[in-house]
Amino acid sequence: MKFEVKYRDAAGRIGVLKIKNKKIETPVLFPVVHPREGAESIKRYSQVVITNSYLIYKNEELREKAIKQGIHKLLNFDGVVFTDSGSYQLYEYGDVEISNREILEFQNRIGVDIGVILDVPTEPNASYDKALRDVETTIERALEAKNIKKNFACIATVQGARHLRLRAYSARKLGELNFEFYAIGGVVPLMENYEFSTLVKIILQSKKYLPIEKPVHLFGAGHPMLFPLAVSLGIDTFDSAAYILYAKEDRYITPYGTLKLSDIKEFPCLCEVCLSYKPSEVRSMDKKERTNILAKHNLLVSIQEINRVKQAIYENKLLELVESRARAHPSLLEALRIFYNSNYLRKLDPITKKSAFFYSGEESLRRPEVKEHLRRIKNIESSERLVVLADRGKPFYDFYKVGSSKKCRFVIASGVFGIIPIEVEEVYPLNQHEAPRILDKAQRKFMEIAVKNYSKLYKEVLIDDALNIKLEGAEYIDYTDIEKDFDMGFKLRAIADYIYGSGAGKILFKKPRAVFSRTGRIRYAYDGDVLIGTIRASDGFLTLSIEGAKRLIKAERNVVFVGERAKETIKNRSVVYNRDVLSCSSEIKPYHEVIVADEEKNLLGVGKTILSSLEMLKFKHGIAVKIRHKNKEYLERNLIF
Ligand code: GUN
Ligand code: ZN
Repeated sequence: MKFEVKYRDAAGRIGVLKIKNKKIETPVLFPVVHPREGAESIKRYSQVVITNSYLIYKNEELREKAIKQGIHKLLNFDGVVFTDSGSYQLYEYGDVEISNREILEFQNRIGVDIGVILDVPTEPNASYDKALRDVETTIERALEAKNIKKNFACIATVQGARHLRLRAYSARKLGELNFEFYAIGGVVPLMENYEFSTLVKIILQSKKYLPIEKPVHLFGAGHPMLFPLAVSLGIDTFDSAAYILYAKEDRYITPYGTLKLSDIKEFPCLCEVCLSYKPSEVRSMDKKERTNILAKHNLLVSIQEINRVKQAIYENKLLELVESRARAHPSLLEALRIFYNSNYLRKLDPITKKSAFFYSGEESLRRPEVKEHLRRIKNIESSERLVVLADRGKPFYDFYKVGSSKKCRFVIASGVFGIIPIEVEEVYPLNQHEAPRILDKAQRKFMEIAVKNYSKLYKEVLIDDALNIKLEGAEYIDYTDIEKDFDMGFKLRAIADYIYGSGAGKILFKKPRAVFSRTGRIRYAYDGDVLIGTIRASDGFLTLSIEGAKRLIKAERNVVFVGERAKETIKNRSVVYNRDVLSCSSEIKPYHEVIVADEEKNLLGVGKTILSSLEMLKFKHGIAVKIRHKNKEYLERNLIF
């Protein structure tokens, strides 16, 4: 099995799983099918299914058929077949008539694509001791599974009930066993009770200790209202029996909650079911037909939500989707708050995104982009005095016609980012954000705290009267009285510091010079006659030229060090593969601008990452960096003997 990641957003990923010559894209939902019924009716919508190998094993007729024909023929399905092991029956009924070895060998024999060890799910409210025993048994079985020859991708499941220390222990121990695929289990009751915040804590803790380069399945999370949140935490696959179980109870699934069929006057969906029937018509069907019809709708909306999540990852809009879904139920909102209060996304969320940052409420102030911004403004060289201005419309420069200099720093007080130094206002996410023009209370408070904290770095502070921020020792000014000042060199250095870390500006620019586009924006950044880089129109990033990179490499900022083999792929394919990454600066995030060098610090090229530093060091497959400019001179010299 191979797993590679193509796109990233938050901790979410679009990946490709290759299993036995079959290729599937993640995130993906495995619809549950009954082994007796097969997957005939599902083929049209899904290339993957999950069924239960224990149920097959227990039934003599199914077992003989599966052994003789294989699981794919049994289900009449040639896509990816994932089978569960009977663990859930173990949980429901306390016992199963099969051993770990037997079920693993059986899954092997019937030719499943993805299988599971016989893990021991623990009831969430179980005591620590009980949960520990189940975790230990699960680890022993995982260890045993390593020595059973298997021709399928084998999953080991993290357990530990709601005891987070046990989740960590379980994830770490199973992680060390180097399975191809992992799962988080024992969470179904939490989802049934809408205990989403506990679920988030469990996922956070498990993901933290599981190998980042492995796919992770979330067992039993079949309701689409959870998909955006779970994917943003790094879950790759789901299974759903929910679509049938809900249908059996006349419940109609939507991405924002569940409706009772008896309450529906109009279907809020236009899938083939909802287009063909009126709610009253479905109500009057006999039980079997009604269940089938509802199950079909439930499955289609679930798959549709997975597609929506994928599209959100492509557009870097995943957190916007998560925030909008969080409004569907207070328990989801609580879960979102737990998620944002953790530091989990700090090193994982992309440094730049394809779409604007949308403010959706006070939770947005806890987003990783905001925290990251407040860290990165500390990288910019300081000035003698600080002038804090009100937001009177973007771009700020066009309104105020001032820029920061060694003497004076101009910043805008912002209800989203706290402080926006005017010289970096064009850099993502500062320009590319949208928020209501009327601040809510949380924004107002956040802005005041940010201004106060930032002001501590300055002896002399001038504050725009209009802001109405009280600060001891500060002077209050009318913005029309501000001294007009502008220093292009200071601006270029600030942009470099903001993107590449403190000191980068000084290394790159001694005699800074800007060349403007027709629209009046900086296009090229020079040092004297040397082109240092280009300011990218989409996100204001300074992308380095080869000359710029040669200067920055000495400071080891945003450098990816690669092995010999990478020289060939850079030259011929303009990419660096993860397997060739030897080490890299820890601050590298997805879509960062990086410098690629060999072990002797010779520059090979510059480009953009797909993954964070944590990930590129671990993934064995896939692309780490897409190269924009190659150091041709060095590469040619080095490849011809
Ligand atoms: N289905 C729902 N929960 C679980 C679990 O914890 N383990 C397994 N194997 N299957 C499940
Ligand atoms: Zn529908």
